[in-house]
Amino acid sequence: MKDRMIEPDFSFYYQNKVLTVDGVSVPELVQKFGSPLYVYSGKAIRESYARLTSALKGLPVQVCYAVKANSNLHVLKLLNELGSGCDLVSYGEWHRAELARIPRSKRVLSGVAKTLDELSALMKLDQAGVGSIHIESVMEFELIALLANLQKKKVTVAFRYNPDVDAKTLDKISTGRKQDKFGLTREEILDLAINYGDDEFVHISGLSIHIGSQITKTGPYQKAFKTLKKLCHEVELHLDRKLDYVDLGGGLGIQYQNEKTISLKAYANLIRNDFSEYKKILIEPGRSLVANAGILVSEVVYSKVRPGSRTLILDAGMNDLMRPALYDAFHEIVPVVDNKAVPAKDWDVVGGICETTDYFARKRKLAVSGAPKEQIAFLSAGAYGFSMSNNYNSRPRVAEVLVDRGKVTLIRKRETLADLLRNEIR
Ligand code: LLP
Repeated sequence: MKDRMIEPDFSFYYQNKVLTVDGVSVPELVQKFGSPLYVYSGKAIRESYARLTSALKGLPVQVCYAVKANSNLHVLKLLNELGSGCDLVSYGEWHRAELARIPRSKRVLSGVAKTLDELSALMKLDQAGVGSIHIESVMEFELIALLANLQKKKVTVAFRYNPDVDAKTLDKISTGRKQDKFGLTREEILDLAINYGDDEFVHISGLSIHIGSQITKTGPYQKAFKTLKKLCHEVELHLDRKLDYVDLGGGLGIQYQNEKTISLKAYANLIRNDFSEYKKILIEPGRSLVANAGILVSEVVYSKVRPGSRTLILDAGMNDLMRPALYDAFHEIVPVVDNKAVPAKDWDVVGGICETTDYFARKRKLAVSGAPKEQIAFLSAGAYGFSMSNNYNSRPRVAEVLVDRGKVTLIRKRETLADLLRNEIR
């Protein structure tokens, strides 16, 4: 088994010059389900999960998949079947976990703005319907303590610690620096532990961190783990007992282009070195489990060829895959039919949204002709692709398909105009 997460071409490869998903022809999928289309490989998700968990073998690790990366119910059910729990950040995600039947004890609830309504709804259930609530602010903790004590209901919480560590990733997806809005400071955590350590209804069970996403170096993890370990010991001193668990967050980077990703063995060693004293260790991978298990297929609507520029205008827009527009993120673009007769040229690849940032790529070398209906695929689109898509410019969201064990399943229908207007008052 490979020591890194899967690469973009693991399940998406050419057969007789036609792009396939584990051998299923992409043009045939588009013919059946239309374009643009998200297509996922169950095999790739299974493989990612297996690589990660086999690297962590021997450690008491529970994977809590970060649902925000790809929250389709079929993806959640598949991960549940593999043994994953989940990291949730809203009542909506909690509801999805419920439908996917992910055991409540394997759920953690994160999120910086859990509302009174959300918390009240959850607190009606035993243990608030989750294994643990990850506290992001002092006020949130006080509200939960108040609700638990008023209703005389037990709740288990952990503190999300902001360790002030730079994850050395894109600025916009860093979460563990002092200036980032996430988590509590060391002082806040110690204060809460001192004041509420023996609360009858609130059980302080652990500490969690999540320093950022698409992390490709071990250094930031190493630094964050050391800081976390130190704080765990300080908290334990005040509680006069060992914490039940530590949660090390997500963030494992994947290969979008030619990044060298973290060796899973090295990642496991970091965990082993710092946290082998704990009986339970949670991790919250999102991207690393699903990104390279998905593509977005799109068709050319028009192309513009002018002196000095060529523009490929697609039926997908930044509303369907917003990572490039939002973060200048790179997604590999490949032609669905590999036609060696077409010379590679520099193309700007754009969508049809009325925004100047609606560019998927600039001056990208692509062997495409620019003819209408020609198909291309964005690779590594299984994470933060559909889940971040929206209806801007009144565009219905696209369909999603899962290819798993030779079976093709439509897992989300393409939205219709009626869907767009469903909640609007006429
Ligand atoms: N845990 C927490 C508390 C998180 O906030 C996140 C992601 C994860 C786990 C999962 O991180 P992952 O393993 O996927 O890196 N939309 C951005 C990524 C934002 C991630 C937000 N939090 C993107 O498209 O790159």
